[in-house]
Amino acid sequence: MSSSIEQLLAHNKEKSLLDANKRVYISTYGCQMNVNDTERMYSLLEMANYSPVTTPDQADLIIINSCSIREKPVHKVYSEVGKYRKLKDRNPHLRIGVGGCVGQQEKENLIKSSPLIDFVFGTDNIDLLPSIIARSEQSGVGGKVVEAKFHHREPYHVETLVRNPGVATFVNITKGCDNFCTFCVVPYTRGREKSRPLQHVMDDVHKLVARGTKEVTLLGQNVNSYESDCGADFADLLEKIARETDVQRIRYTTSHPKDFNQKLIDVMARNQPKICEYIHLPFQSGSTRILERMNRGYTREEYLEKISMIKAAIPNVVLSTDIIVGFPGETEEDFLDTVRLVQEVGPETIFAFKYSPRPFTKAAQFTDQVEESVKDDRLARLFAAHDIVGKELAKKYDGQTLDILVEGHDEDRGNLHGRSSQNKNVFFNGDKSLIGKMVPVKITKAFSATMRGELQ
Ligand code: 5AD
Ligand code: SF4
Repeated sequence: MSSSIEQLLAHNKEKSLLDANKRVYISTYGCQMNVNDTERMYSLLEMANYSPVTTPDQADLIIINSCSIREKPVHKVYSEVGKYRKLKDRNPHLRIGVGGCVGQQEKENLIKSSPLIDFVFGTDNIDLLPSIIARSEQSGVGGKVVEAKFHHREPYHVETLVRNPGVATFVNITKGCDNFCTFCVVPYTRGREKSRPLQHVMDDVHKLVARGTKEVTLLGQNVNSYESDCGADFADLLEKIARETDVQRIRYTTSHPKDFNQKLIDVMARNQPKICEYIHLPFQSGSTRILERMNRGYTREEYLEKISMIKAAIPNVVLSTDIIVGFPGETEEDFLDTVRLVQEVGPETIFAFKYSPRPFTKAAQFTDQVEESVKDDRLARLFAAHDIVGKELAKKYDGQTLDILVEGHDEDRGNLHGRSSQNKNVFFNGDKSLIGKMVPVKITKAFSATMRGELQ
C-alpha cells in the first residue's frame, strides 16, 4: 500500500460512510513495530472521525493489534476477544477487529473460530483500515471482512503518521525480513523486506522535528540491511540524518550482527553525540553450532569480533541483546556457551526467551525439541548470570553526570523522566517545563535498567 497523507485523506473522504464521532480502543501486543502500527491506526481512524478511548467499554470499535513472535499468540487473541462478549451482547453494533501478526497468520480462521470477531486485517493492509471498517459496517451485524494479502510488488511508500509526536518518536525505515532465521515467524507475518526511499525518511524526520520531536528511533526488523532507491545503505542514511536534520538524537533498532560493519561503526563514532552510544545487537545463542541451526549467518567468534570493533571505536557504547534458550538440540554445553558469551560481551540489558515453536518455521519441525522444564531452568540460570554482569556494569554510573533528554513528567510523584544516550531510563525531580530539554543529571542510584538522579 503506498500512500501520502493527502492520498489517505482523499481515500478516507470517499469512505466517509463511516459515521461521525465514534470511539476506538486499540489493544497492542509485541514489538515497537506494533506500537508504531497502532499509532498509525489511530491516526488513520482519526481522519475517519474515530476518537481514541482508553478503555474497551467506552468503544464502538475495538482492535486487537496482535503479536505472534512467541508463545500462544492465537490463544491470547481469543481470550481477549472473549472478554468483550458482554460488551458485544450489550451493543451488537460494537465492531471487533484483529490486526497485526496473528491477523496475518490466521486470516479467516479467526473469524471461523470466533463469531465475536467482525474483521481481520494483515500487516500490509493497515492503510485500508477505514475502508475495511466501512465494509464491515455496510455488511451489517454478522457481516465479516478479511483483508490479509501481502502487496509484494508495491514499493514501501508510507509517510509516518503520528497524532502528537512526542519528544522521542519512531520512524519506520524498513519492513519485513528476508533472513528466515529458523525459529522466527516474522518473514511469514511481515512479508518480504522492503526499504523506504531515502528522501521519504528525511522528509519525515524534518517534519517531526518541526513538530517538536528531539529524538528519532529508526525502526525495522533488520535496519542495517536498509537499501534505498538511490543506492544508499543504512550507514549513509544514518549519517545523512545526523548531518542534515536538526534532530538531537538518533537511535535505531533492530540490527543484525551479520550486517553490522565497520562503515556503520565509523558513522556512529564520528557522529557522536547525535547518534546514541547504544546498540541492540541480538546474538540469540553463544554456540556456533546452534547459531548455524538457527541460520543466523555468523559464528560466536564473528559476533565477538564485531563487538571488539564496536568497543574500539565507541568506548562508552552500551549493548543489549536478545537471547533464546532451549532452541532444538541445545545441549548444556551450548547453553553454557551462551552464558559465557553474556559474561564476555557484557550487555547491560538482555531480553531472553524460551524457544517456542512457530508455525511455518523450520525449527518447529526439528525433532530434537528441548523439554519445557529444561528451558525454564536455563532461562532462570541465564537471568541469574546476567544479574551479576548487569549489577557490575551499573556501578560505573554512580556519581556520573549524564545528559538526559526529558521525555515526561509524573504528576503524582513530581518526577521527571528521560533517557541518556545509552538508553538508560533516569528519574529525577524537576519542573515539567523541562520536557523536551537536554539536561545534566547526576546519578545517585543505578540499577541495571533504571536510575535515580539529581538535576545539576
Ligand atoms: N521463540 C523464542 N523467542 C523468539 N524470538 C523470535 N522468535 C522466537 C521463538 N520462536 C525472539 C528472538 C528475537 C526476539 C524479538 O524474539 O530473540 O530477537
Ligand atoms: Fe526474525 Fe531473524 Fe528476521 Fe530477526 S532477522 S526478524 S529473528 S527472521
